[in-house]
Amino acid sequence: MTDTDTLSSEAVIALAKKHLIGNYTRYPVCLVRGDNSWVWDAEGNRYLDFFPGWGCGILGHCPPRVVRAVQEQVADLIHVPNTWYTEPQALLAQALGERSGFGGVSFFCNSGTEANEAAIKLARLNGRPKGKYKVVTLTGSFHGRTYASLTATAQPKYHAGVEPMLPGFTYATFGDLDSVAKAVDAETAAVLFEPIQGEGGINVPPAGFVEGVRELCDKHGMLMILDEVQTGMGRTGKWFAHQHWNVKPDIVTLAKALAGGVAMGGLMAKPEVGEKLKPGTHAATFGGNPLAARAALATIETIEQDGLLDRAFQIGDRFRARFTALREKCPLVTDVRVKGAMIGVELSTEGAPVVQACLERGLLINCTHSTVLRLLPALTIGDEQIDTGCDIMAEVLLALRP
Ligand SMILES: Cc1ncc(COP(=O)(O)O)c(C=O)c1O
Repeated sequence: MTDTDTLSSEAVIALAKKHLIGNYTRYPVCLVRGDNSWVWDAEGNRYLDFFPGWGCGILGHCPPRVVRAVQEQVADLIHVPNTWYTEPQALLAQALGERSGFGGVSFFCNSGTEANEAAIKLARLNGRPKGKYKVVTLTGSFHGRTYASLTATAQPKYHAGVEPMLPGFTYATFGDLDSVAKAVDAETAAVLFEPIQGEGGINVPPAGFVEGVRELCDKHGMLMILDEVQTGMGRTGKWFAHQHWNVKPDIVTLAKALAGGVAMGGLMAKPEVGEKLKPGTHAATFGGNPLAARAALATIETIEQDGLLDRAFQIGDRFRARFTALREKCPLVTDVRVKGAMIGVELSTEGAPVVQACLERGLLINCTHSTVLRLLPALTIGDEQIDTGCDIMAEVLLALRP
């Protein structure tokens, strides 16, 4: 095989099945190239992607500024450890802090679960002098697959078979302030939650909930930690989803879209909280490397210069109009939940066959929580592409019998 040869999808799938651990449910498609909201397989078939990179592709596939930044950086310096300073990492921390609205200082890692691990450690380090170490999280949440983040994920299905989970976690009901208040005791160091739940089914909290948790945290000397791994970086039309409400969190965790598709995670903390992560308490070898940091800076620049925060609202409005109209005609659609470019279509039936039927028609979507079709389109998607994909979804849903 030469560098220019490409294996057929069939050959790649056979190799993968033989040599990879089968911990993912994969569709029999091998993708080789992407451009904005389009991706192509090895045979040249084109797909419209309403779920680029599980929410990492906030700018679609191969966004030009990110590609250029990575190409330049890779020739200069790929990785140095955090024993040295690098300009991209410092500039990125500044850029995020300026957009945080609370003067956030940053720590960088490589994924969402790692970001939440760091936040949970920070909550314990911050609470320890007052005897506080417990963390309250919410039903339906998803915080990642490493042990602290997994324990924080209040869904029994993710704990099954890998118990015992970590001590010190208490679960309250999403959207129910009384339940959160009841879960808190004198040893509670933090409340950790997603301002809008992603994996849990695009769940937007009821009015007053986010502000109510803030008040509760202030009253009991607890940190408010927001997992914005899925909602951050402009996904909902604000830099961070909590900015839809009048609150300032103590810690915000990020990943997914942070570096426009390049692997990166991180957290921002209020300076008086962030300072508790002292040398020796936490680290990540690859965290904040120049390649990822340059990609993140290019992502921020693109969102800003191309007016993509405003575009997220337009995208949301267009999808809402389409699915609200469809709901009138299609009894299978029971709810439509939209916040910017974060879109959930609740069905009265399993969503997996819908995902499969869309794939067969060249449209990539996701289903979460069995019955919620989840779309996290790129903020660079065009109206025509939205309409094309919505036409396919309507055709598929209307053909299904209730
Ligand atoms: C809200 C939220 N937190 C954390 C994670 C975990 O991120 P990662 O897969 O990068 O570890 C996810 C992933 O889907 C997520 O949606």
